[in-house]
Amino acid sequence: MAKILDVKGRKVWDSRGRATVEAEVVVGRGSTPLATGRAIAPAGASTGSGEAKAIDAAQAVQNINTRIRDGLKALSASDQAAVDARLIELDGTPDKHRLGANAIVAVSLACAHAEAAAAKLPLWRKLAGERRVALPVPQIQIFGGGAHAGRRVDIQDYMVICVGAGSFAESLEWTAQIYAAAGARLAKRNALQGVADEGGYWPAFKSNEEGLAELVGAIADAGLEPGRDVGIALDIAATQMHRGGAYHLALENRALSSGQLHAMLARWVERYPIVSIEDPFAEHDAEAMRAFTKDVGDRIQVVGDDFFVTSAKRLRQANGACNTVLLKPNQVGTLTETLACWDAAKAAGYRAIVSARSGETEDVSIVHLAVGWGVPQLKVGSFARSERMAKWNEALRIEDSLGPKALPFPARKLFR
Ligand code: PGA
Ligand code: ZN
Repeated sequence: MAKILDVKGRKVWDSRGRATVEAEVVVGRGSTPLATGRAIAPAGASTGSGEAKAIDAAQAVQNINTRIRDGLKALSASDQAAVDARLIELDGTPDKHRLGANAIVAVSLACAHAEAAAAKLPLWRKLAGERRVALPVPQIQIFGGGAHAGRRVDIQDYMVICVGAGSFAESLEWTAQIYAAAGARLAKRNALQGVADEGGYWPAFKSNEEGLAELVGAIADAGLEPGRDVGIALDIAATQMHRGGAYHLALENRALSSGQLHAMLARWVERYPIVSIEDPFAEHDAEAMRAFTKDVGDRIQVVGDDFFVTSAKRLRQANGACNTVLLKPNQVGTLTETLACWDAAKAAGYRAIVSARSGETEDVSIVHLAVGWGVPQLKVGSFARSERMAKWNEALRIEDSLGPKALPFPARKLFR
């Protein structure tokens, strides 16, 4: 059984040019190193208040090189739960701010990578064991807004889900067409301001609803049928627009009550081929979340991101709010807690989506988690910028390596 021989942290930089944390874990037998695993912490911009707290990267690195290294040495690397329990114990705070959630998540993931490397297996296979696996259905951003694009539009993510695609590779083929078509439409109207933090176009729309109409247009321009081939997914990230008891749509210069926002979103669900809406209400507005889920939850996914912050406990207390959970390892801090949230979701009949953050790197661990744990959906941002494409491309490699051994791609089963 491989033991942890060494743990090392270093400061590296993310896709927004901000400092973040890389961890390396060396495992071996006796004093002979067998394998090294490496992982980098991502970072959010529209964070939920219940998230585990990242700290200054330099301080987090120092914590890895001192307290975490001392605390993990000689532990069995194959017991991820014990490693994560030790990390939690070493930190000793409910939100992991002492050692830093960025330090902890990087080490937790690096440990899993080291263990897989020692077994000479890709991480997804190490996590799946003998189980057959499927590729997750991607949710891919086309337009970015909210906190990721200077709040030019209020809605944070306008995304597509290729609900009629027969494989991961086909989803990307279609998305490439849609992304190009959307860019061409914006350029023609002089409405293109650049790209947002996750690589989606940063558009100059006159209303939030215009983004929906443009997306439907882009899907059609790509030669695909909105609704049948491709559905729309939104992340409202409503916590970001909630102030003083109202939801502020700055672009439209109006403030909505929970009831008015509910009515607006329900109307959009009627009018457009929407299959998923994330954080339609603020993280504390559980009543509104419940009422909305009751209203439209039999037709679409109602996804909790800031609302659940990847917490198994919050999910168990959801009581009819949302029907889908976003799983972000750095939101909760360790691999074991992320897996516990997925287990709680399955037990409660909720769907789940593994998700990246708006600040990302070349690290592709989350793709392996989605495949290895059998989480049927993956959200990584847009179809541009290498911190996004690295993850889509990793999924293509896994699909390619599986060939006919893969379970059927779940898009049509989930959404049609
Ligand atoms: P964040 O955004 O990483 O900035 O929190 C992603 C999301 O809201 O899903
Ligand atoms: Zn979100």
